[in-house]
Amino acid sequence: MRAFFATVIASLVALAALVALAQPTVPSLPFHDSLRGMTPINEETKPPLIAPTENKDVIRGLNYAQQPPTIPHKIDNYQLDKNANRCLACHARSRAEESGAVPVAVSHYMDRDGVVSGHLSPRRYFCTQCHVPQADAKPLVGNSFVAVEDIKPQAPKNQKR
Ligand code: HEC
Ligand code: HEC
Repeated sequence: MRAFFATVIASLVALAALVALAQPTVPSLPFHDSLRGMTPINEETKPPLIAPTENKDVIRGLNYAQQPPTIPHKIDNYQLDKNANRCLACHARSRAEESGAVPVAVSHYMDRDGVVSGHLSPRRYFCTQCHVPQADAKPLVGNSFVAVEDIKPQAPKNQKR
């Protein structure tokens, strides 16, 4: 009986060794991460400098219909919490004339059922949920986004023209 078990265990060990040998050896690539770069996981990276916010006051183009426009000015120290909304001090429809800011879109006065009311819809209160300032920073990852107007229509392959 003991000999039988010894044989079974020995064959299992041999089998495991074979399986291990049969594994294709993956070349160990250096770890790469867009934020960490080549810094090993057990070391700290040197954080990049914070890029300054673009503050040119020039309205930027949109990449697609219904895109929330990016913010062309600094928003440092603008209070935006449950007590106060500094953005509305300039962007509310009633303030736009005085401030010269683009008034918030009519969609911002619409509730989820499409009913337009006289006051900003609560779901549009936290402006920076959708609108963000920009910085002239090197992109961390590549992006092949193409605006819909730039996509050339292609005729279906199997169709005669
Ligand atoms: C002191 C007034 C003022 C405040 C406060 C302000 N803005 Fe503006 N905003 C402007 C003006 C003026 C413009 C027009 C472009 C420019 O001069 O920067 C503008 C432009 C914008 C645009 C671009 C609109 C478009 O059609 O492209 C967005 C988006 C925007 N602001 C969002 C915000 C958000 C979000 C906040 C709050 C965090 C905010 N703004 C606070 C004055 C203000
Ligand atoms: C849930 C996302 C969302 C939130 C929150 C939001 N917006 Fe917008 N905003 C948009 C989208 C999308 C557009 C463009 C489409 C449209 O006009 O509705 C837009 C358009 C705008 C425009 C341009 C209007 C125009 O006529 O060109 C301004 C200015 C603006 N938003 C300001 C604000 C401010 C200020 C707040 C906070 C009080 C805010 N938004 C909150 C999504 C949002």
